[in-house]
Amino acid sequence: MAYKFAIISGSTRKKAPQSSKVAHYVKWLLEQQLEQETYLLDLSETSLKYWDETFWSDYKNFDENWAIASKEIRNSDALVIITPEWNGTIPPALKNIFHLATKGEMANKPALIISVSSGINGVYPITELRLNSFKNTFVNYIPQHVIVRNVNSVLNNPQAIETEDDKLIKERIDYTLKILMVYAEAFVKIRDSEIIKNNPFPYGM
Ligand SMILES: Cc1cc2nc3c(=O)[nH]c(=O)nc-3n(C[C@H](O)[C@H](O)[C@H](O)COP(=O)(O)O)c2cc1C
Repeated sequence: MAYKFAIISGSTRKKAPQSSKVAHYVKWLLEQQLEQETYLLDLSETSLKYWDETFWSDYKNFDENWAIASKEIRNSDALVIITPEWNGTIPPALKNIFHLATKGEMANKPALIISVSSGINGVYPITELRLNSFKNTFVNYIPQHVIVRNVNSVLNNPQAIETEDDKLIKERIDYTLKILMVYAEAFVKIRDSEIIKNNPFPYGM
């Protein structure tokens, strides 16, 4: 059965962002190997307006790009959130999405986090996302995640194994996406539940 996966690539760098490379690999794998549908929101190509008070006062006209992205994410069954490590944090434009996606777009959908580092880092952005970004979005991060270390040297050719590290990371991404597919199927039932649909605490306690 095919589900729809919203892939968000969090780097806003214009010059060959490695997060976009990883995002395109994930897209290729989901579509070509696992026969799933995808939507890719690449923040190096699509600029979203930063949250300001017009989000509250005039939501319909807040941002054309967000209107499109919001609809696509809402129509998805699961998410893959790809974040580079920038000064130990996630990029501001990715953080912004968690201020925008507060109208149920990600709610009760499973999400896989993939962090990206040109060195051997990549843990901090995962802990940052897991710490609080689920609160008003109600996104469900699955226990598995992926850290793509030394990113420049892996995933450069989707169809051929180039090194031992390339093989390992491809196996890990393949495994975690297959796990995400199982969650995507299970969460359909969760979203259908009456108590989930009628949440009296949209902002927590
Ligand atoms: C502003 C900035 C800060 C960065 N800080 C870190 C860092 O704290 N840790 C790290 O491992 N890499 C850091 N990097 C390097 C990224 O890991 C590298 O650019 C990698 O390719 C992922 O980012 P990208 O998707 O923008 O290419 C930084 C890169 C930028 C542009």
